[in-house]
Amino acid sequence: MSDATPQPKGPLGRFLALPTDSVPKTVFVAVMLCLVASMFVSAAAVALRPLQEVNKLIDKQVNILQVAGMYEPGVDVVEAFGVFEPQVLEIATGTFTDQFDAASFDDRAAASDPALSVALDDDPAGIGRQSKFVTVYLLRDDAGGIDKVIMPIHGYGLWSTLYGFIALEENGNDIFGLQFYQHGETPGLGAEIDNPRWKALWPGKRVADANGELQIHVAKAPNASGADYHIDALAGATLTSVGVNNLVQFWLGETGYASFLANLKSGDIS
Ligand SMILES: Cc1cc2nc3c(=O)[nH]c(=O)nc-3n(C[C@H](O)[C@H](O)[C@H](O)COP(=O)(O)O)c2cc1C
Repeated sequence: MSDATPQPKGPLGRFLALPTDSVPKTVFVAVMLCLVASMFVSAAAVALRPLQEVNKLIDKQVNILQVAGMYEPGVDVVEAFGVFEPQVLEIATGTFTDQFDAASFDDRAAASDPALSVALDDDPAGIGRQSKFVTVYLLRDDAGGIDKVIMPIHGYGLWSTLYGFIALEENGNDIFGLQFYQHGETPGLGAEIDNPRWKALWPGKRVADANGELQIHVAKAPNASGADYHIDALAGATLTSVGVNNLVQFWLGETGYASFLANLKSGDIS
């Protein structure tokens, strides 16, 4: 007498004949689930990338508006940002260049492009490479003269690179504001650089003294240059404060915007 139950044929047949809660079938379902889920996540990441780029750009524009004292919640950011005149600045000469389109020039990409940047031996800001070109934003008064300049700054804090902007008055020496829009410092400690009370210490401070010497400093107490050039270091976050001091001095000194600020003061840039 022969067995009535037909035996499954081939590996697929044997697999399908296994009980639903068998180990091979459980592993198979888990793997398929992972594959399908990862396909959805990848597709979402790719589809959302353009939106992320737009949001990043809007966030940067909000920060430029804020540091220039022109941001109001609910404002149409793109329209409000239209008042700024972006210019690509050649750092070495402190003059504007039309080699690049200022509206789309990517400072960060330039900083990692060997053709557009230099490796720093002396690197107090901890940035590794410095772009030879950066985008600065001019705000003009009704007569068409420069009212404020907004310049990008960045450098290492304690845990992360801090990216921000500093706004100066038309004389290239009086600080209107400073703001960081990206960093990874610790909330409640280094991240207090975002605290409006700390940011309020910056307006009215000066960059250089009457002899043109760079004097601005972030420290626990003013140095010999006096209070006009001193910003209080953050309590409990001395290391982030040291980073801010280093990067501000790097960008506002000879290694950064000194030539540009001299051109502003002399009226060679208007
Ligand atoms: C978990 C943790 C996170 C910290 N984050 C920061 C920070 O973001 N920035 C900073 O300057 N110090 C930070 N500190 C403190 C520093 O280690 C250091 O104590 C502090 O900068 C000294 O500042 P003070 O001289 O004002 O006390 C952190 C400490 C710990 C334990």
